[in-house]
Amino acid sequence: MFFEPMNYGNAGLEHNPLKAIVAPRPIGWISSCGVDGSINLAPYSFFNAVSEDPAIVMFSAQAFGPEHQKDTLRNVTETGVFTVNIVGASQVQAMNISSGDYPYGENEFNAAKLSMIPGTTVNVPHVGNVPAALECMLLQTIALPANDRGENYTAVLGTVTGIFVDDSVVVDGKISYALLAPVARMGYRDYANINDFFELGRPIIKFEDP
Ligand SMILES: Cc1cc2nc3c(=O)[nH]c(=O)nc-3n(C[C@H](O)[C@H](O)[C@H](O)COP(=O)(O)O)c2cc1C
Repeated sequence: MFFEPMNYGNAGLEHNPLKAIVAPRPIGWISSCGVDGSINLAPYSFFNAVSEDPAIVMFSAQAFGPEHQKDTLRNVTETGVFTVNIVGASQVQAMNISSGDYPYGENEFNAAKLSMIPGTTVNVPHVGNVPAALECMLLQTIALPANDRGENYTAVLGTVTGIFVDDSVVVDGKISYALLAPVARMGYRDYANINDFFELGRPIIKFEDP
């Protein structure tokens, strides 16, 4: 089958398959603060690292019209900082609770019964007991084009200013995926535990001097 992105129905598919095709995606569980001092936490799976040195990450927040932007985007544009938490294996339910559509100002750390650990390089708490967290400074927001219902995403790029790693997930100087146990988002309502790893070196191409 072949179809234009929003014509999946003509191809016999029940749901937009994009997120099932671009899967698995890491989950950026993003904590942020407003200028009023309110604290926010929500998961974003349009999330990834986009540059290693300097370390830069990106997430993308959906808006249902200009009046309905997500609290995370509002906070990040207000204060210029955020923290990306990595969801621990035992924290999937809490992550899901924090995705609820709570009113602005309601602290999802409380709703999900999570502890707050003060940030080091940014004035944003990270989630207690996470295997890792990335403290970030806002680099740039990019308003992406809207659909015909006036809904659009805003991509948010952040420079990583500090990295927290729980010592318990480090083995012989490397992060152990088995201990980090990252939870990934698939399409539909599906998630994946990533637990099958293999190593592969890149080819070394030798150029002969002419
Ligand atoms: C696993 C997961 C991934 C999500 N990824 C995104 C995303 O990438 N972009 C987005 O706009 N919403 C995403 N959502 C929905 C938001 O988490 C949800 O709208 C939340 O209420 C936003 O909170 P906020 O307004 O406090 O930022 C996701 C939800 C879940 C459960």
